[in-house]
Amino acid sequence: MLLEVKNLTKIFTVGFLRRKEIVAVKDVSFNVKESEFVSLVGESGSGKTTTARMILRLLRPTSGSVVFRDRDVWSLRTLNDLRWYWRQVHGIFQDPFASFNPLYKVDRVFYQVFTLLGDNDVDKESLVNEALKEVGLRPEEVLGRYPHELSGGQRQRLMIARCYLLKPKLILADEPISMIDASTRAGILQLFSKLRDEYKTSIIFITHDLGLAYYVSDRVLIMHKGSIVEEGSPEEIMEHPQHPYTKRLREDVPLLYRKWSGF
Ligand SMILES: Nc1ncnc2c1ncn2[C@@H]1O[C@H](COP(=O)(O)OP(=O)(O)OP(=O)(O)O)[C@@H](O)[C@H]1O
Ligand SMILES: [Mg+2]
Repeated sequence: MLLEVKNLTKIFTVGFLRRKEIVAVKDVSFNVKESEFVSLVGESGSGKTTTARMILRLLRPTSGSVVFRDRDVWSLRTLNDLRWYWRQVHGIFQDPFASFNPLYKVDRVFYQVFTLLGDNDVDKESLVNEALKEVGLRPEEVLGRYPHELSGGQRQRLMIARCYLLKPKLILADEPISMIDASTRAGILQLFSKLRDEYKTSIIFITHDLGLAYYVSDRVLIMHKGSIVEEGSPEEIMEHPQHPYTKRLREDVPLLYRKWSGF
């Protein structure tokens, strides 16, 4: 097993005088195998991003554990061990602006990759150009610019190109294509599938869109109010949804998808 998420819970405390607890993620467990495309589907506020942030080691869980290749991720301490994790697990976020340092040109995110990989003898420029081409960007339209000088969709695609350079073992893609137009979107999803097929990369794809998840994933997890309420193959979820919430989500899948796929 590549990734084991065990009984993960996150409780946020908000407010000052009247403190209130928000259970964002409640006792979530699931596994991801090597070379598996898993979608995490749920409505806004269901705890998807919070789950992803705990797996990426950006947010400490209230309880539970994240185990990657038999090592407890939250017990990693030394810089070497953390690098070991960051080389293999990569996040692509909903708001890609947060992934860039506004003071530096965007090129920096690529050259950091070579530092992380410890690769100095490679032709960096042609590798970067190739990665940009994979996500449908022309080098001259993005390189040498600052993050605020690019569109949201261009920033998102830059992070995906970075991911392509790193070839991580696991990608956590949180609504990675929300700002990208429909035609480029299909290309990005194909790129993820290509990484899975050629490099055995596993993908956790976070989305509101069950129709999209149906098309791209090997397995679908349905998240509702902080818990995973149902899990299955895309066909099982679409043809025989068990949980009332899954049934509701399925009703929301645009008619067009259902027509194409016969549901
Ligand atoms: N830092 C925080 N402090 C307090 N509450 C938070 C914090 N981050 C998230 N929450 C709350 O936790 C719950 C889950 O949020 P989360 O961002 O994980 O949802 P999501 O499924 O990613 O939603 P969306 O689809 O809108 O991105 C929400 O009720 C949210 O308001
Ligand atoms: Mg989110």
